[in-house]
Amino acid sequence: MSKSDSPTDNTSTKPADPEQRGQFGTRIGFILAAIGSAVGFGSIARFPMNAANNGGAMFLLMYLFIMLLFGIPIMIAELSMGRTAQRNTVGAFRVLTGKTRPKWMGVGFLYFLVAAFILSYYSILSGWTLRYFFGSMTGAYFNDPDAYLTATQEGPWALIWHAVVMVLTAVVLTGTVSKGIEKVNLVMMPALFLIIVGLAVYAATLPNVAAGYEFYLQPDLTAFTLPVMAAAVGQAFFSLSLGQGAMMTYASYLPKRTSLATNASIISLSTLCFAVTCGFLIFPLLSTFGLLSGERAGLGLIFGPLAQAFAEMGQPLGNIIGALFFLATFFASFTSAVSLAEPAISYAIEEHKLDRRRASILICALIYIAGIAVAFNSNLLDLEGGALTDFFVILGGFTIALYVGWFSPVAQAIARMDEGEGVKLGRFVRPLMQWVMPLVLGVLLLFSITGTPCFLSGDANSVGLLETFGAPDLMGCEG
Ligand code: PHE
Repeated sequence: MSKSDSPTDNTSTKPADPEQRGQFGTRIGFILAAIGSAVGFGSIARFPMNAANNGGAMFLLMYLFIMLLFGIPIMIAELSMGRTAQRNTVGAFRVLTGKTRPKWMGVGFLYFLVAAFILSYYSILSGWTLRYFFGSMTGAYFNDPDAYLTATQEGPWALIWHAVVMVLTAVVLTGTVSKGIEKVNLVMMPALFLIIVGLAVYAATLPNVAAGYEFYLQPDLTAFTLPVMAAAVGQAFFSLSLGQGAMMTYASYLPKRTSLATNASIISLSTLCFAVTCGFLIFPLLSTFGLLSGERAGLGLIFGPLAQAFAEMGQPLGNIIGALFFLATFFASFTSAVSLAEPAISYAIEEHKLDRRRASILICALIYIAGIAVAFNSNLLDLEGGALTDFFVILGGFTIALYVGWFSPVAQAIARMDEGEGVKLGRFVRPLMQWVMPLVLGVLLLFSITGTPCFLSGDANSVGLLETFGAPDLMGCEG
């Protein structure tokens, strides 16, 4: 092996040797891992509630459109960057640009840092699901769901379960890619699908099912405002794990065969189907116990009214259904957590010559510490998981569109797409990548900082990053 092939040579501009870095053993292993990353709180909690609050079936259609127009192309771009480079997000830009210190490296840092930041609070939430899993089995929250939620959210319990999740994450990532990431997804993902589909079928037999479906999908055209669409773009990126280096890092463990466009479509559409199914499970349960209300945001929904529905079911049905649901939610969030830690770990291994075990322990410990504040003040969740995450997610998508549309060899490949006979897709793809995406995402990025101007936002008062941090409302919408 020549020196430049070494996975720990941190100036190399060549792809690393796959033998040394580890690889997915099977295509299905990769696909399940990528779906595992994508499917998480975004699909289980955020999507169904977004749909119910923002136009029902119309939201679904719009979301599908956004996914086809933005989500899948960005995913193809991210996967192909990772697979071409066969390196961590920082080293990837070195390989892709052919320079030892390209300016884009800064963006590579941003990706794994943002992923680690998201995990610092995501792990706390994943910990809640574990506590609720045990709480469902014993019926611990059946008498007083509110008190149980308060005890879960803050203080010692939050810290303990956060620790459990981060230790498990470190254990999985200590293994090689095929024995760690791939194995855990091969077990958890099929189990997750079986449970969710099973529960959705069960929910369809409940007495008040029609009211639940109606609340979820009743089409409403008036719900289309710019903030709703902007939220849908952010939701699509977050939910598909784009722009944080997670997909890029996973794809860097792919052998160079399989078509990325096919993979990206399978991953995205499966995630959407999963998210839609979650709504079919949640709303009939709520309507049956008279717990439907439009007010709850995504997460508040599953730990609030949904947990209450399990409590109302009583023993032993509530124990079983509740435990299954929270186990599934744990699987969904844990496989996302694993993918959020891996970009930083792969960076530490390749750029700082740590072995996989040390890197996993170190990175997971740091992320644990970063999450402690949230375990003491769950109000921080609104900030970190809200405006800050939205901003970073859109920034991630924006940088990928910009890089792939203008700077990478892909730009030239797209420019050449229409040469010769046959379907001329390049005509559409090129302006999409070079103009539409950077422009739309650029504007959304700006609005995520300043808030959406009121003439575009209708009644909705959209709060930007600046306002969240205490600046006055720039858009003057309240006046
Ligand atoms: N897609 C995950 C979810 O919907 C979150 C995530 C974001 C995971 C970014 C990895 C990278 O919950």
